[in-house]
Amino acid sequence: TTVLVLNGPNLGRLGTREPEVYGSATLDDIRADLEASAPAGIELELRQTDHEGELIGWLHEAVDRGCPVVLNPAAFTHYSYGMRDAAAMVSKSGLPLIEVHLSNPHSREAFRGYSVVSEIATGVIAGFGPDSYRLAIDQIGRLIG
Ligand code: DQA
Repeated sequence: TTVLVLNGPNLGRLGTREPEVYGSATLDDIRADLEASAPAGIELELRQTDHEGELIGWLHEAVDRGCPVVLNPAAFTHYSYGMRDAAAMVSKSGLPLIEVHLSNPHSREAFRGYSVVSEIATGVIAGFGPDSYRLAIDQIGRLIG
């Protein structure tokens, strides 16, 4: 099974972006760790975009290919109804869609406390840095295994 690990805006800057919040690992570091620890039988395609339409297209692709999704929508979390509707097509088609965040948005600015995605996500994991992704992928292994 191929799992799409989709990342929204500014996550390509991990490593130098607010390291006190997001840590020092780059997205390539995270990709390498996840590939090394993925459960047997799970292949990962990790992607990042700063463009809402591109992310929406990847969510459509997940439906068409039947791929579970790990989604860090970054700032789109808090306002993108277009992305949320595309993510809903994934979860409502019966594919797991797990929302992840490196930080715990609830411990930060008030605007981060609301997610347009959580309502339609299979589950949410936040606050564990790169381990948030690992936990989500392990759980997808359990859900589809
Ligand atoms: C984030 C949290 C969001 O509020 C923020 O806009 C991000 C990253 C996280 O992984 O902690 O860009 O999704």
